[in-house]
Amino acid sequence: MKIFHQMESEVRGYCRDYPVVFTRALGSEMFTEEGLRFIDFLGGAGALNYGHNNPLIKQAVIDHLMRDGVLHGLDLHTDAKKAFLGALRKHILEPREMGEYKVQFTGPTGTNAVEAAMKLARKVTGRNDIVSFTNGYHGMTLGAIAATGNSHHRGGAGVALGGTTFMPFQGYFGSEADTIAYIERLLDDPSSGVDIPAAMIIETVQGEGGVNIASPEWMRKLQDICRRHGILLIVDDIQAGCGRTGSFFSFDGMDIEPDLVTLSKSIGGIGLPMAILLMKPEHDQWAVGEHNGTFRGNNLAFAAATAAIEKYWSNGAFAAEVKEKGAIIRQHLQWIKADHPELGAKVRGRGMMWGLDLPRPGMAAEVVNAAYERGLIIENCGSGGSVIKFLGPLTTSVELLEEGLGILREAVAAVAAGVDAKSEASSC
Ligand SMILES: Cc1ncc(COP(=O)(O)O)c(C=O)c1O
Repeated sequence: MKIFHQMESEVRGYCRDYPVVFTRALGSEMFTEEGLRFIDFLGGAGALNYGHNNPLIKQAVIDHLMRDGVLHGLDLHTDAKKAFLGALRKHILEPREMGEYKVQFTGPTGTNAVEAAMKLARKVTGRNDIVSFTNGYHGMTLGAIAATGNSHHRGGAGVALGGTTFMPFQGYFGSEADTIAYIERLLDDPSSGVDIPAAMIIETVQGEGGVNIASPEWMRKLQDICRRHGILLIVDDIQAGCGRTGSFFSFDGMDIEPDLVTLSKSIGGIGLPMAILLMKPEHDQWAVGEHNGTFRGNNLAFAAATAAIEKYWSNGAFAAEVKEKGAIIRQHLQWIKADHPELGAKVRGRGMMWGLDLPRPGMAAEVVNAAYERGLIIENCGSGGSVIKFLGPLTTSVELLEEGLGILREAVAAVAAGVDAKSEASSC
């Protein structure tokens, strides 16, 4: 352990909550050099929707390596990229009447896709401002962090963050307040002091912000406001996409047509870095190379992504499975809430993206520790770190799901009883 403390920057985060050395990982389990076994409900913060070392996806990666397929491709045409684009169009875009959307391969992190989306929206509209939402999280580069709410992260920027205006996410002022009416009034009133923005960037389910959910009706009204003012609607599906909420895109079935969509994390199939920006064709106004990057052509990730799409999204079976397992998670979290009415816990989620909000200060961080002590890796997030977030692989078996949720139940009970109170720790 010493070498990590000696050499790794103070910026390291997750590893502080789970201070072991991992050597092996398979599906929804991780193993340490001391032979400990953990159930993984952290899921690479959303990058492991198909599990660690998913055998089928891993085989596609091995095959690509063994045939000396191109690994690093800049934005050159390769057979792996061709196969990925074909699979994306056939299984994801065309069935959703999105076959016309263009695909931009950005640098391979989510934040780079967000940068591309924000830059493109400004270029297309000729406007400066981007509206983002309270508790929104879009990444750590300067454009994306300006659209991120969390003051801890914003504080790391070191420069004034500008070009963004924050509006309230659905429910921010409680269930009674009409946040859409508030946004509408500010944008309709030429004397509100709020400039008409180039775009609005939104997560339909806020991940790092605490599993806050925008309803289809709210999203439709938001889109109406955007359309009336010529504002582009960017859905940041980096965490909530790739099946997490029970369908491939988190906005499926909402009857909205985002102008731009960002995807990363699990698009790379097996945790390999990859990010894309989808755009309606009329917005593809980039000049050649205007937003480029050395690592836009991670062909191993393309091979993995193609295998994942073909395996899990060629029919509706996987989505149905995610919804069924989501119901199990919800049930367990409701049981935990019912076990401890004094905690005032709230349960929120869609598909297999769930949050248990424990408003007592510091409690969620204590539960993360207590769960870790019992063999479960799970993170806390949200304002003040009060939300325990489930992001375990979508491929987690029902048996493992029940086992991990059982551990979580024990951990909450132990912390509630004052057995496991520990120092505060928060990873997001
Ligand atoms: C919704 C959303 N957007 C953007 C990002 C940034 O992605 P990355 O960490 O790969 O830069 C994240 C990361 O958690 C995210 O959840």
